[in-house]
Amino acid sequence: MGQLYKLIYSSLREPKCTDAEIEKILVSCKKNNPEKNITGILMHSDNSFIQYLEGAPKEILGLYDLIKLDGRHRNVVMLSYTPIRERTFPSWHMGYKNVGKLEFQTDISADDKKLFESMIAGNELEGDLSVSVLKKFFENAK
Ligand SMILES: Cc1cc2nc3c(=O)[nH]c(=O)nc-3n(C[C@H](O)[C@H](O)[C@H](O)COP(=O)(O)O)c2cc1C
Repeated sequence: MGQLYKLIYSSLREPKCTDAEIEKILVSCKKNNPEKNITGILMHSDNSFIQYLEGAPKEILGLYDLIKLDGRHRNVVMLSYTPIRERTFPSWHMGYKNVGKLEFQTDISADDKKLFESMIAGNELEGDLSVSVLKKFFENAK
């Protein structure tokens, strides 16, 4: 088996990126990610995105270069790009959640909320910590 990497970035959602546009992004994910063996999660709020991609370095960097050019978001900031031993989201060719309402969830700790907000604002976090916080938010969102 080849090398496995994860890439995390955050970005600002453009106002023209309506929910219908997000649906189109998910259609692209469904079409393109399986053949590149890319898995991960895409989360958004009203004004931000955070995406976690995992797969072969060549594939995820190629996709990231394409995504960066997408006019539906701006200020794309890479938060993490490191090798991983195994996939965190092996069955998601792009799991997708709206995390905009999560501040009201009581089973996420204040510390985790703070970390998540920091990430979505484009601040890098310690590698493993960032993945566990993302996972928690993903699993708690609808
Ligand atoms: C926040 C965000 C995340 C995206 N994630 C992916 C992705 O995981 N896979 C993908 O193929 N396209 C993704 N896109 C869309 C790409 O930028 C691009 O529009 C798409 O890959 C074009 O492919 P298509 O013409 O085959 O649909 C994303 C776009 C945005 C704004």
